[in-house]
Amino acid sequence: MRVLVSGGAGFIGSHTVVQLVAAGHDVVVVDSFANAKPSVVARIEALTGQPLELHAFDLTDRDKTEQLFADEPVDAVIHFAGFKAVGESVEQPLAYYENNLGTTFSLLRAMQRHGVGTLVFSSSATVYGADAPVPMREDLPTSATNPYGWTKVMQEQVFRDVAATDPRMRIALLRYFNPVGAHPSGTMGEDPAGIPNNLMPYIAQVAVGLRERLGVFGDDYPTPDGTGVRDYIHVEDLAAGHIAALHRLTQVEDPVSVWNLGTGQGTSVLELLHAFERACGRELPYEVLPRRAGDIAESYADPTRAHNELGWRATRSIDDMCADTWRWQSQNPQGYPE
Ligand code: WQD
Repeated sequence: MRVLVSGGAGFIGSHTVVQLVAAGHDVVVVDSFANAKPSVVARIEALTGQPLELHAFDLTDRDKTEQLFADEPVDAVIHFAGFKAVGESVEQPLAYYENNLGTTFSLLRAMQRHGVGTLVFSSSATVYGADAPVPMREDLPTSATNPYGWTKVMQEQVFRDVAATDPRMRIALLRYFNPVGAHPSGTMGEDPAGIPNNLMPYIAQVAVGLRERLGVFGDDYPTPDGTGVRDYIHVEDLAAGHIAALHRLTQVEDPVSVWNLGTGQGTSVLELLHAFERACGRELPYEVLPRRAGDIAESYADPTRAHNELGWRATRSIDDMCADTWRWQSQNPQGYPE
């Protein structure tokens, strides 16, 4: 298939682009580089062995988006583009609503004008809200506790309502749990700007000497070791899940399908820290800090539906995730070149 990948220069997007090409698909990437460095393009091309077709503009620009669909007929869209920092969304809600919803409106307009009905959407387990029982199942109600989460809840609703009016549409809502890891070559990985919000990149920066110690946000949760438990999933497994969903959409009748992409296993902060110590071969300093506002104790997936309907399951272990992250971080201490 000829697939338009929005946000294809980002962490999950770049890994998915490499796997799409390996699976024989043609890929067109659109990315504004608001949250990615242009140097990732050369890394993608080195792994695919071919030039990357890239359009660098902001998808909230409806005219440019329309022109892209006019110039580049595609069969499907994978929509990664979006702002995704929870804390930043609390400080800049309008920027988050404008960008995350605006890109979606713009894409849907162009897709409908050009008869493109297949879309895989980068959603998030964050849509299960603050009180969801674990393991989380796709039929749980959705809600959010921050503007970023609300943009995901709202985008899912927009896709449902639009698909209900257009029989050509087949949409997959993929709810990611905690994406981590890096390409096993060590040439692509997560490269957060500034101080990492997320646990794995922060640990990796401690290991490579960029940060002095890890701050553990609370050790008084009702969990086995008192620290937060999450379902970490390797970005390579996540990418494979997108390709499985893309294929499945050519077979389903339902306008909208929802799949969790998680391992179904929970790992605590301290368990991940110790796994990373095994990967990097040294003890990593940490200090226990107060809980972070908005954090929940436990989050992990029930991935049964994805196993049964996508024929997909996560295969990489926590040790694989740490080993691949360490290889990327130690080979690229400052992330991608400016
Ligand atoms: C994981 C655990 C923290 C940093 C977020 C978003 C979610 C998705 C993934 C976009 C928690 C603890 C963290 C640190 C710590 N993003 N922690 N010290 O919060 O589960 O999910 O990222 O889709 O939408 O909500 O991920 O990596 O921030 O935190 O102790 O320096 O690590 O308390 O228990 P989270 P995280």
